Amino acid sequence: KYNAGIVGLGTYVPERILTNIELESSLETSDEWILSRTGIKERRIAAPEQAASDLALAAASAALENARVSASEVDLIICATLTPDMFFPATGCIVQDRLGAKKAAAFDLEAGCSGFIYGLSVAQAFIASGIYKTVLVIGTDVMSRIVNWRDRGTCVLFGDGAGAVVLKPVEQDQGILSVHLGADGSGAGTLLVPAGGSRMPLSQEVLDLNLQFIQMSGGDVFKFAVIAMCNATKHVLAGVGLETEDLGMLVPHQANTRIIESAAKRLKLPMDKVVVTVDRYGNNSTASVPLALKEAVDDGRIKNGQNVVLVGFGAGLTWGAVLIRW
Ligand code: ACO
Repeated sequence: KYNAGIVGLGTYVPERILTNIELESSLETSDEWILSRTGIKERRIAAPEQAASDLALAAASAALENARVSASEVDLIICATLTPDMFFPATGCIVQDRLGAKKAAAFDLEAGCSGFIYGLSVAQAFIASGIYKTVLVIGTDVMSRIVNWRDRGTCVLFGDGAGAVVLKPVEQDQGILSVHLGADGSGAGTLLVPAGGSRMPLSQEVLDLNLQFIQMSGGDVFKFAVIAMCNATKHVLAGVGLETEDLGMLVPHQANTRIIESAAKRLKLPMDKVVVTVDRYGNNSTASVPLALKEAVDDGRIKNGQNVVLVGFGAGLTWGAVLIRW
Protein backbone atom coordinates (compact mmCIF):
# COMPACT_ATOMS: atom_id res chain seq x y z
CA LYS A 1 0.00 0.00 0.00
CA TYR A 2 1.25 3.46 -0.90
CA ASN A 3 0.45 7.05 0.02
CA ALA A 4 0.13 9.87 -2.50
CA GLY A 5 3.05 12.30 -2.31
CA ILE A 6 3.35 15.72 -3.94
CA VAL A 7 6.23 15.50 -6.44
CA GLY A 8 5.66 18.79 -8.27
CA LEU A 9 4.02 22.17 -7.70
CA GLY A 10 3.03 24.95 -10.10
CA THR A 11 1.07 28.17 -9.79
CA TYR A 12 -0.15 31.00 -11.95
CA VAL A 13 -1.58 34.42 -11.14
CA PRO A 14 -2.72 36.98 -13.72
CA GLU A 15 -0.44 39.98 -14.21
CA ARG A 16 -3.02 42.64 -13.42
CA ILE A 17 -2.80 43.84 -9.81
CA LEU A 18 -5.85 45.59 -8.36
CA THR A 19 -4.95 47.51 -5.19
CA ASN A 20 -7.24 48.69 -2.41
CA ILE A 21 -6.32 52.26 -3.30
CA GLU A 22 -7.63 51.69 -6.82
CA LEU A 23 -10.89 50.30 -5.43
CA GLU A 24 -11.36 53.53 -3.46
CA SER A 25 -12.06 55.35 -6.73
CA SER A 26 -14.99 53.11 -7.75
CA LEU A 27 -16.45 52.05 -4.39
CA GLU A 28 -17.37 53.61 -1.08
CA THR A 29 -14.51 51.86 0.69
CA SER A 30 -10.99 52.54 1.94
CA ASP A 31 -7.62 50.85 2.01
CA GLU A 32 -7.76 51.15 5.81
CA TRP A 33 -11.16 49.35 6.06
CA ILE A 34 -10.18 46.51 3.74
CA LEU A 35 -6.75 46.03 5.34
CA SER A 36 -7.96 46.12 8.94
CA ARG A 37 -10.98 43.81 8.34
CA THR A 38 -9.36 41.33 5.94
CA GLY A 39 -5.57 41.76 5.74
CA ILE A 40 -5.90 42.14 1.96
CA LYS A 41 -3.78 44.81 0.22
CA GLU A 42 -4.20 43.77 -3.40
CA ARG A 43 -5.50 40.96 -5.60
CA ARG A 44 -4.90 39.67 -9.13
CA ILE A 45 -7.52 40.02 -11.85
CA ALA A 46 -7.67 37.86 -14.98
CA ALA A 47 -7.49 39.55 -18.39
CA PRO A 48 -10.84 39.62 -20.25
CA GLU A 49 -9.77 36.75 -22.50
CA GLN A 50 -8.59 34.54 -19.60
CA ALA A 51 -10.91 31.84 -18.25
CA ALA A 52 -10.41 29.17 -15.57
CA SER A 53 -8.81 26.69 -18.02
CA ASP A 54 -6.20 29.26 -19.13
CA LEU A 55 -5.06 29.86 -15.55
CA ALA A 56 -5.21 26.11 -14.87
CA LEU A 57 -3.15 25.25 -17.94
CA ALA A 58 -0.35 27.59 -16.89
CA ALA A 59 -0.28 26.19 -13.33
CA ALA A 60 -0.55 22.55 -14.47
CA SER A 61 2.24 22.92 -17.06
CA ALA A 62 4.49 24.43 -14.39
CA ALA A 63 3.66 21.62 -11.94
CA LEU A 64 4.46 18.91 -14.52
CA GLU A 65 7.75 20.62 -15.36
CA ASN A 66 8.59 20.95 -11.66
CA ALA A 67 7.84 17.23 -11.17
CA ARG A 68 9.73 16.27 -14.37
CA VAL A 69 6.67 14.33 -15.41
CA SER A 70 5.39 14.40 -19.00
CA ALA A 71 1.72 15.07 -19.74
CA SER A 72 1.47 11.64 -21.37
CA GLU A 73 2.20 9.98 -17.99
CA VAL A 74 -0.79 11.56 -16.22
CA ASP A 75 -3.58 9.06 -15.38
CA LEU A 76 -6.13 11.44 -13.89
CA ILE A 77 -6.80 15.20 -13.80
CA ILE A 78 -8.99 16.55 -10.99
CA CYS A 79 -9.86 20.19 -11.57
CA ALA A 80 -11.35 21.92 -8.54
CA THR A 81 -13.20 25.09 -9.49
CA LEU A 82 -16.37 27.00 -8.80
CA THR A 83 -15.89 29.23 -11.84
CA PRO A 84 -15.56 26.69 -14.70
CA ASP A 85 -15.15 27.94 -18.28
CA MET A 86 -18.76 26.84 -18.88
CA PHE A 87 -21.39 24.49 -17.45
CA PHE A 88 -20.00 21.64 -19.50
CA PRO A 89 -17.72 20.18 -20.71
CA ALA A 90 -15.61 20.06 -17.56
CA THR A 91 -12.74 22.54 -17.37
CA GLY A 92 -10.56 19.52 -16.47
CA CYS A 93 -11.26 18.05 -19.94
CA ILE A 94 -10.29 21.32 -21.65
CA VAL A 95 -7.02 21.32 -19.68
CA GLN A 96 -6.45 17.61 -20.49
CA ASP A 97 -6.62 18.37 -24.21
CA ARG A 98 -4.44 21.47 -24.04
CA LEU A 99 -1.80 19.69 -21.96
CA GLY A 100 -1.80 16.73 -24.36
CA ALA A 101 -2.48 14.35 -21.44
CA LYS A 102 -4.04 11.85 -23.82
CA LYS A 103 -4.43 8.88 -21.50
CA ALA A 104 -5.74 10.90 -18.53
CA ALA A 105 -9.31 10.75 -17.28
CA ALA A 106 -10.52 14.22 -16.26
CA PHE A 107 -13.32 15.77 -14.27
CA ASP A 108 -14.23 18.88 -12.30
CA LEU A 109 -14.79 18.89 -8.56
CA GLU A 110 -17.00 21.49 -6.89
CA ALA A 111 -16.64 21.80 -3.13
CA GLY A 112 -16.40 25.58 -2.88
CA CYS A 113 -13.07 26.88 -1.67
CA SER A 114 -12.37 23.45 -0.10
CA GLY A 115 -12.18 21.99 -3.63
CA PHE A 116 -8.40 21.66 -3.76
CA ILE A 117 -8.32 19.79 -0.42
CA TYR A 118 -11.17 17.54 -1.59
CA GLY A 119 -9.19 16.95 -4.80
CA LEU A 120 -6.08 15.89 -2.89
CA SER A 121 -8.09 13.38 -0.89
CA VAL A 122 -9.59 11.89 -4.07
CA ALA A 123 -6.08 11.63 -5.53
CA GLN A 124 -4.88 9.91 -2.34
CA ALA A 125 -7.72 7.36 -2.61
CA PHE A 126 -6.93 6.55 -6.27
CA ILE A 127 -3.19 6.22 -5.61
CA ALA A 128 -3.48 4.26 -2.35
CA SER A 129 -5.86 1.81 -4.04
CA GLY A 130 -3.33 1.25 -6.82
CA ILE A 131 -5.79 2.35 -9.53
CA TYR A 132 -3.67 5.29 -10.70
CA LYS A 133 0.01 6.24 -10.39
CA THR A 134 0.12 9.85 -11.57
CA VAL A 135 -2.61 12.30 -10.63
CA LEU A 136 -2.74 16.03 -11.35
CA VAL A 137 -4.85 18.10 -8.94
CA ILE A 138 -5.63 21.67 -9.98
CA GLY A 139 -7.39 24.52 -8.19
CA THR A 140 -8.40 27.33 -10.55
CA ASP A 141 -10.78 30.22 -10.05
CA VAL A 142 -11.71 33.47 -11.75
CA MET A 143 -13.68 34.93 -8.87
CA SER A 144 -13.64 38.38 -10.48
CA ARG A 145 -16.31 37.09 -12.92
CA ILE A 146 -18.83 36.17 -10.23
CA VAL A 147 -18.57 39.11 -7.84
CA ASN A 148 -20.73 42.18 -8.11
CA TRP A 149 -18.20 45.00 -8.46
CA ARG A 150 -20.75 47.35 -6.93
CA ASP A 151 -21.11 45.29 -3.73
CA ARG A 152 -18.33 46.51 -1.44
CA GLY A 153 -19.15 43.78 1.10
CA THR A 154 -17.94 41.02 -1.25
CA CYS A 155 -15.97 42.32 -4.23
CA VAL A 156 -12.99 43.54 -2.19
CA LEU A 157 -12.39 40.02 -0.84
CA PHE A 158 -11.69 37.97 -3.95
CA GLY A 159 -9.01 37.50 -6.59
CA ASP A 160 -8.07 35.17 -9.46
CA GLY A 161 -5.42 32.46 -9.72
CA ALA A 162 -4.56 28.79 -10.13
CA GLY A 163 -2.35 26.19 -8.47
CA ALA A 164 -1.58 22.59 -9.34
CA VAL A 165 0.25 19.61 -7.88
CA VAL A 166 1.42 16.29 -9.29
CA LEU A 167 0.95 13.29 -7.01
CA LYS A 168 2.67 9.92 -7.22
CA PRO A 169 2.95 6.88 -4.94
CA VAL A 170 5.44 7.28 -2.07
CA GLU A 171 6.31 5.07 0.92
CA GLN A 172 3.73 4.74 3.67
CA ASP A 173 5.42 7.03 6.19
CA GLN A 174 5.53 9.88 3.61
CA GLY A 175 3.09 11.90 1.56
CA ILE A 176 -0.57 12.19 2.58
CA LEU A 177 -0.80 10.50 5.98
CA SER A 178 -4.39 11.37 6.80
CA VAL A 179 -7.42 13.21 5.40
CA HIS A 180 -10.58 14.68 6.87
CA LEU A 181 -13.49 16.05 4.85
CA GLY A 182 -16.82 17.44 5.96
CA ALA A 183 -19.96 19.15 4.70
CA ASP A 184 -22.99 20.85 6.20
CA GLY A 185 -25.51 21.63 3.48
CA SER A 186 -27.79 23.33 5.99
CA GLY A 187 -25.38 26.29 5.63
CA ALA A 188 -25.76 26.43 1.84
CA GLY A 189 -27.55 29.78 2.06
CA THR A 190 -24.69 31.56 3.80
CA LEU A 191 -22.46 31.62 0.72
CA LEU A 192 -23.85 31.15 -2.78
CA VAL A 193 -24.44 32.33 -6.34
CA PRO A 194 -28.23 31.93 -6.51
CA ALA A 195 -28.84 32.15 -10.24
CA GLY A 196 -27.50 30.62 -13.43
CA GLY A 197 -28.16 26.99 -12.53
CA SER A 198 -31.19 24.77 -13.06
CA ARG A 199 -32.95 26.21 -10.00
CA MET A 200 -32.96 29.77 -11.29
CA PRO A 201 -31.90 30.00 -14.94
CA LEU A 202 -30.64 33.38 -16.13
CA SER A 203 -33.32 35.81 -17.22
CA GLN A 204 -33.50 39.58 -17.46
CA GLU A 205 -35.32 39.69 -14.13
CA VAL A 206 -32.57 37.67 -12.44
CA LEU A 207 -29.85 39.86 -13.96
CA ASP A 208 -31.65 43.02 -12.83
CA LEU A 209 -31.55 41.67 -9.27
CA ASN A 210 -27.84 40.77 -9.55
CA LEU A 211 -28.58 37.17 -8.54
CA GLN A 212 -25.81 35.88 -10.82
CA PHE A 213 -23.25 37.17 -8.32
CA ILE A 214 -21.86 35.93 -4.98
CA GLN A 215 -24.05 36.52 -1.93
CA MET A 216 -22.52 36.01 1.48
CA SER A 217 -23.41 36.36 5.11
CA GLY A 218 -19.90 37.40 6.10
CA GLY A 219 -20.21 37.11 9.87
CA ASP A 220 -21.70 33.58 9.70
CA VAL A 221 -19.01 32.41 7.29
CA PHE A 222 -16.36 33.92 9.57
CA LYS A 223 -17.51 32.02 12.67
CA PHE A 224 -17.96 28.77 10.76
CA ALA A 225 -14.52 29.11 9.13
CA VAL A 226 -12.56 29.46 12.38
CA ILE A 227 -14.18 26.42 14.00
CA ALA A 228 -14.09 24.29 10.83
CA MET A 229 -10.39 24.92 10.23
CA CYS A 230 -9.47 24.19 13.87
CA ASN A 231 -11.46 20.99 14.04
CA ALA A 232 -10.27 19.71 10.66
CA THR A 233 -6.63 20.38 11.60
CA LYS A 234 -7.01 18.54 14.92
CA HIS A 235 -8.76 15.65 13.16
CA VAL A 236 -6.02 14.97 10.60
CA LEU A 237 -3.32 15.21 13.26
CA ALA A 238 -5.22 12.90 15.63
CA GLY A 239 -5.75 10.47 12.73
CA VAL A 240 -2.10 9.42 13.05
CA GLY A 241 -1.68 10.13 16.77
CA LEU A 242 -0.14 13.61 16.40
CA GLU A 243 -0.88 16.87 18.21
CA THR A 244 -0.57 20.56 17.31
CA GLU A 245 3.00 20.63 18.72
CA ASP A 246 4.00 18.10 16.04
CA LEU A 247 2.88 20.41 13.26
CA GLY A 248 5.68 21.94 11.18
CA MET A 249 3.57 24.29 9.06
CA LEU A 250 -0.12 25.05 8.60
CA VAL A 251 -1.26 26.09 5.12
CA PRO A 252 -4.81 27.42 5.49
CA HIS A 253 -7.30 28.63 2.90
CA GLN A 254 -6.61 32.33 2.40
CA ALA A 255 -9.88 34.19 2.90
CA ASN A 256 -9.08 36.71 5.59
CA THR A 257 -6.09 37.24 7.91
CA ARG A 258 -8.41 37.59 10.90
CA ILE A 259 -9.94 34.15 10.22
CA ILE A 260 -6.45 32.64 9.92
CA GLU A 261 -5.19 34.35 13.09
CA SER A 262 -8.27 33.33 15.08
CA ALA A 263 -7.88 29.71 13.97
CA ALA A 264 -4.16 29.72 14.84
CA LYS A 265 -4.93 31.21 18.28
CA ARG A 266 -7.54 28.51 18.99
CA LEU A 267 -5.02 25.87 17.93
CA LYS A 268 -2.34 27.55 20.11
CA LEU A 269 -0.14 27.67 17.03
CA PRO A 270 2.35 30.57 16.64
CA MET A 271 1.84 32.60 13.45
CA ASP A 272 5.39 31.80 12.25
CA LYS A 273 4.06 28.29 11.60
CA VAL A 274 1.19 29.57 9.47
CA VAL A 275 1.46 30.58 5.81
CA VAL A 276 -0.29 33.84 4.84
CA THR A 277 -0.53 35.11 1.26
CA VAL A 278 -3.98 36.73 1.36
CA ASP A 279 -2.40 40.21 1.60
CA ARG A 280 -1.21 39.93 -2.02
CA TYR A 281 -3.82 37.70 -3.67
CA GLY A 282 -7.09 38.10 -1.74
CA ASN A 283 -9.26 35.01 -1.64
CA ASN A 284 -8.69 33.16 -4.89
CA SER A 285 -10.79 30.23 -3.76
CA THR A 286 -9.49 26.79 -4.84
CA ALA A 287 -6.13 28.31 -5.84
CA SER A 288 -5.33 29.76 -2.43
CA VAL A 289 -3.92 26.65 -0.72
CA PRO A 290 -1.59 25.56 -3.56
CA LEU A 291 -0.37 29.16 -3.98
CA ALA A 292 0.45 29.43 -0.26
CA LEU A 293 1.99 25.94 -0.23
CA LYS A 294 4.32 26.69 -3.14
CA GLU A 295 5.44 29.95 -1.59
CA ALA A 296 6.40 28.24 1.68
CA VAL A 297 8.15 25.37 -0.13
CA ASP A 298 10.10 27.78 -2.36
CA ASP A 299 11.25 30.01 0.51
CA GLY A 300 12.32 27.00 2.62
CA ARG A 301 9.74 27.32 5.41
CA ILE A 302 8.46 23.85 4.48
CA LYS A 303 11.25 21.31 4.72
CA ASN A 304 11.65 17.60 4.07
CA GLY A 305 10.32 15.44 6.89
CA GLN A 306 8.03 18.16 8.28
CA ASN A 307 4.37 17.52 9.13
CA VAL A 308 2.34 19.96 7.01
CA VAL A 309 -1.43 20.42 7.26
CA LEU A 310 -3.37 21.94 4.37
CA VAL A 311 -6.79 23.07 5.57
CA GLY A 312 -9.73 24.79 3.94
CA PHE A 313 -13.38 25.76 4.16
CA GLY A 314 -15.88 27.07 1.69
CA ALA A 315 -19.32 27.18 0.16
CA GLY A 316 -21.47 24.13 0.69
CA LEU A 317 -20.67 24.56 3.46
CA THR A 318 -17.62 22.33 3.20
CA TRP A 319 -14.32 21.89 4.99
CA GLY A 320 -11.33 19.61 4.77
CA ALA A 321 -7.73 19.00 5.75
CA VAL A 322 -4.88 16.77 4.66
CA LEU A 323 -1.78 15.96 6.68
CA ILE A 324 1.33 15.55 4.55
CA ARG A 325 4.74 14.33 5.71
CA TRP A 326 6.80 16.54 3.38
N1 ACO B 1 -15.56 49.09 2.76
C1 ACO B 1 -16.10 49.87 3.73
N2 ACO B 1 -17.11 49.47 4.49
C2 ACO B 1 -17.61 48.24 4.27
C3 ACO B 1 -17.09 47.39 3.28
C4 ACO B 1 -16.04 47.88 2.49
N3 ACO B 1 -15.47 47.14 1.51
N4 ACO B 1 -17.79 46.25 3.30
C5 ACO B 1 -18.71 46.35 4.28
N5 ACO B 1 -18.60 47.56 4.87
C6 ACO B 1 -19.39 48.10 5.98
C7 ACO B 1 -20.72 47.41 6.15
O1 ACO B 1 -21.68 47.97 5.28
C8 ACO B 1 -21.02 47.65 7.60
O2 ACO B 1 -21.55 48.95 7.72
P1 ACO B 1 -22.77 49.24 8.73
O3 ACO B 1 -22.23 48.89 10.09
O4 ACO B 1 -23.01 50.69 8.52
O5 ACO B 1 -23.88 48.35 8.26
C9 ACO B 1 -19.65 47.67 8.27
O6 ACO B 1 -18.70 47.86 7.20
C10 ACO B 1 -19.33 46.42 9.04
O7 ACO B 1 -19.61 45.30 8.20
P2 ACO B 1 -19.45 43.85 8.74
O8 ACO B 1 -19.96 42.90 7.68
O9 ACO B 1 -20.01 43.74 10.12
O10 ACO B 1 -17.87 43.73 8.84
P3 ACO B 1 -17.02 42.52 9.40
O11 ACO B 1 -16.06 43.02 10.38
O12 ACO B 1 -17.87 41.34 9.74
O13 ACO B 1 -16.17 42.11 8.11
C11 ACO B 1 -16.03 40.55 6.29
C12 ACO B 1 -16.81 41.69 6.93
C13 ACO B 1 -14.63 41.03 5.98
C14 ACO B 1 -16.75 40.15 5.02
C15 ACO B 1 -15.95 39.36 7.28
O14 ACO B 1 -17.23 39.06 7.79
C16 ACO B 1 -15.39 38.12 6.63
O15 ACO B 1 -14.26 38.08 6.23
N6 ACO B 1 -16.17 37.01 6.55
C17 ACO B 1 -15.76 35.79 5.94
C18 ACO B 1 -15.85 35.90 4.46
C19 ACO B 1 -15.21 34.75 3.74
O16 ACO B 1 -14.26 34.17 4.18
N7 ACO B 1 -15.75 34.42 2.56
C20 ACO B 1 -15.21 33.47 1.66
C21 ACO B 1 -15.53 32.07 1.96
S1 ACO B 1 -14.73 30.93 0.93
C22 ACO B 1 -15.63 30.51 -0.46
O17 ACO B 1 -16.05 29.36 -0.62
C23 ACO B 1 -15.93 31.52 -1.54
